[in-house]
Amino acid sequence: MDDTTNTIKHVASPLARQTLLDDKLTRPVAGRRPIPLLPWLQVIKIGGRAIMDRGHEAILPLVDELRKLLPEHRLLILTGAGIRARHLYSVGLDLGLPVGSLAPLAASEAGQNGHILACLLAPEGVSYIEHPTIANQLAIHLTAARAVVGSAFPPYHHHEFPTSRIPPHRADTGAFLIADALGAAGLTIVEDVDGVYTSDPNGPDGAKAQLLRETSAADLAKLEGTLPFDRTLLEVMTTARHLARVQIVNGLVPGRLTAALRGHHVGSLIHTGVRQA
Ligand SMILES: Nc1ncnc2c1ncn2[C@@H]1O[C@H](COP(=O)(O)OP(=O)(O)O)[C@@H](O)[C@H]1O
Ligand SMILES: [Mg+2]
Repeated sequence: MDDTTNTIKHVASPLARQTLLDDKLTRPVAGRRPIPLLPWLQVIKIGGRAIMDRGHEAILPLVDELRKLLPEHRLLILTGAGIRARHLYSVGLDLGLPVGSLAPLAASEAGQNGHILACLLAPEGVSYIEHPTIANQLAIHLTAARAVVGSAFPPYHHHEFPTSRIPPHRADTGAFLIADALGAAGLTIVEDVDGVYTSDPNGPDGAKAQLLRETSAADLAKLEGTLPFDRTLLEVMTTARHLARVQIVNGLVPGRLTAALRGHHVGSLIHTGVRQA
C-alpha cells in the first residue's frame, strides 16, 4: 500500500482510534467552544399557565409589546404548556401511561399555545413553525420575518428520561437548550411573577417570600421547594456553552419584557456556568 492509496482510503481524524469516553483524549478536539449560529437572536419563552391560560387580558397587551419589539429585535418566541397539559397528565397518570407517552401529549399543548400566539401576530408576518423547521430553516424564516413562534417543549417525546412520572424536561428546559445551541443573544422567560423568590410568592408562606434579583443556577439548585420553572433548567444551565444568564420577567406588567430585551435588569437574573466573554 503506497502513500496515495493511504490518503484516498483513510480519512485522517484525530478521533479515529480513540474511545469517545475518555475526556483527556477527546478534549483537544471537542473541548473548544462551539460557534454561535444566530448571535443576533433573542429567544422569549412565554408561560402557558402564567400567560396563555389567562386569555385576552394577559395575551393581548403582551402581543402588543411583542409587535413593538419587532423593529428592534429578531425573535424566536416559544410557548409552554399550561392547564390542558395538567389535565392530560392527570388523566394519563390515572391510566398508568408511561412518561414517554405523556411528554408528546403535553408538548402538543405548548404547540397549540404557539399557534394561538402566531395567529395574533400574523399581520406582522409572524408564523408558527414546527421543530424540524426550527432545526433546519430558522435563519431563512428570520430573514423573511422579524419573528417566528414555536413550541418550547424539547422533542424528547418517547425518549423522555423516566426519572419521574411527569416529564422532567419541559418548556423552560427546551427554550434554554435551543437558545444555547443557537448561541442566541439572550433568553427571557415570561412569567406572572416578578422573578424567582425564595419560596412561592402565591403559596401559603407567600408573605415571607423574597425576590432574588440576581442569583445563579448553582445557588438555586440548593434551594428546596418550588420554582417558577422546571428544575431541569438548572441542570442544563450548568453545562451552557453560550448563554451567560437568563432573565425571568413579569409579563403581566407592560414594558418589563421590552426593558429586559434592551438589557435592563427588571426581573431575576440567573447566571449559568458560562463566564461572560
Ligand atoms: N420560588 C418561586 N418563585 C416564584 N414563583 C414561584 C416559585 N415557586 C412557585 N412559583 C409559582 O410559579 C407560578 C408560575 O407557574 P408556572 O407553572 O411556572 O407557569 P408556566 O408554566 O406558565 O411558566 C407563579 O405564579 C408562582 O406562584
Ligand atoms: Mg414557569
